[in-house]
Amino acid sequence: MYNLSVFVSGRGSNLKSLFQEIYDSDIRIVSVVTSVPDCGAVIFADENNIPVFLVSDKPKEGFVNFDTLTGLLKSQNVNLVVLAGFLKKIPDNFVEAFQNKIINIHPALLPSFGGKGMYGINVHKAVFEKSAQLSGATVHFVDKVYDNGKIIAQKSVDISDVNSPEDIAERVLKIEHELLPFVVKKIAFKKIEIRNNRVYILN
Ligand code: GAR
Repeated sequence: MYNLSVFVSGRGSNLKSLFQEIYDSDIRIVSVVTSVPDCGAVIFADENNIPVFLVSDKPKEGFVNFDTLTGLLKSQNVNLVVLAGFLKKIPDNFVEAFQNKIINIHPALLPSFGGKGMYGINVHKAVFEKSAQLSGATVHFVDKVYDNGKIIAQKSVDISDVNSPEDIAERVLKIEHELLPFVVKKIAFKKIEIRNNRVYILN
């Protein structure tokens, strides 16, 4: 079995699509991690009997800190941490504990429109205001800097005729739901290679 822990903060549409896409494979979601206990993603996890860990960087009843979380995920034999709309910064210690085993989905074509404050609809507003004609989704490895790790896969979409940031969000989300499960499967089935300082996806 290949074990995923999925980190979420919102409605959880990427969690849902990932759950559905890996349903009949050897990949399973062994935990969902959040700092937002009442978010849609947690409701989905509860409905599907996926254990939920609440995490906070400040002491809070019912929440664990990132060091304790590291121990919990190690005891679950987590192979890959998937950030699917998790909006808190991941502390350096946690990144070190899961070196090259954390990926993130970002709703734009990095390295443009990334970094601190660039999440959710903020990203699509910035893309809209720049009058970018293309947007898309990026899955990348997570390092200690926001949206900075090596890019694993990207998919673009034409947004030349959109009327609002929400139109962009809708188009990009469709792509996210394909791209994230695709990358997770490639990593789980060892179809990712790093050479020449680049990431290659094998068939
Ligand atoms: C997704 O669009 C994801 O790319 C974005 O949050 C949304 C979560 O939606 N993540 C970021 O902006 C991270 N910088 P979901 O809860 O429906 O999966």
